[in-house]
Amino acid sequence: MEESYQEIWKLVEPLLFKAKRKDFLIHTKMVEKAMREIIAGEGGDTTFLIPAAILHDVGWSEVSEKLQLAKDEERKNKALQEHIQKAPKIIRELLTKVNYDKDKIERIVDIVVAHKFTEPKEKEKQILIDADTLSDTYKESFYSDVKSYGSTPREIWEFRSKNTFYTKTAKEIFERELNDRQKEINNK
Ligand SMILES: [Fe+2]
Ligand SMILES: [Fe+2]
Repeated sequence: MEESYQEIWKLVEPLLFKAKRKDFLIHTKMVEKAMREIIAGEGGDTTFLIPAAILHDVGWSEVSEKLQLAKDEERKNKALQEHIQKAPKIIRELLTKVNYDKDKIERIVDIVVAHKFTEPKEKEKQILIDADTLSDTYKESFYSDVKSYGSTPREIWEFRSKNTFYTKTAKEIFERELNDRQKEINNK
């Protein structure tokens, strides 16, 4: 593998444990994996896109636990908004610690804050949204979500199967993974 971003990972890991809705460590690892696979097909600058993947959900660490676990739609939405609002400050502090350039940091912040509630035209922002969505279909994430959400594999499969993508690469990998999950479910 190319760059490993170990230093960033070391700082991000303890923050991800504060995110309660599901296993965000597995989720974030799978988003990084999805990001690398999408870049392999679509191109893209890893020095922005890989840190953006690793840091995209770090904002959850500063959303109150109560709000994270809220069940009603209004507060769920508030939690989602907060995980975006809290992200820039955390990302700036963290990437400054590992000596990232200031302008690179701002570009990463820009990519991360666009991963919810927007339909961006810029490819680097679209790629993060695709990686976030695609990651949920990978084996590790898929069965981790089955546990976290207390749903059956088939229910999660139905839900995921409606996902849409910006890039051709993400869509192709998605269809392959979705197919594999279906085979696993049918063989049980
Ligand atoms: Fe997110
Ligand atoms: Fe995410």
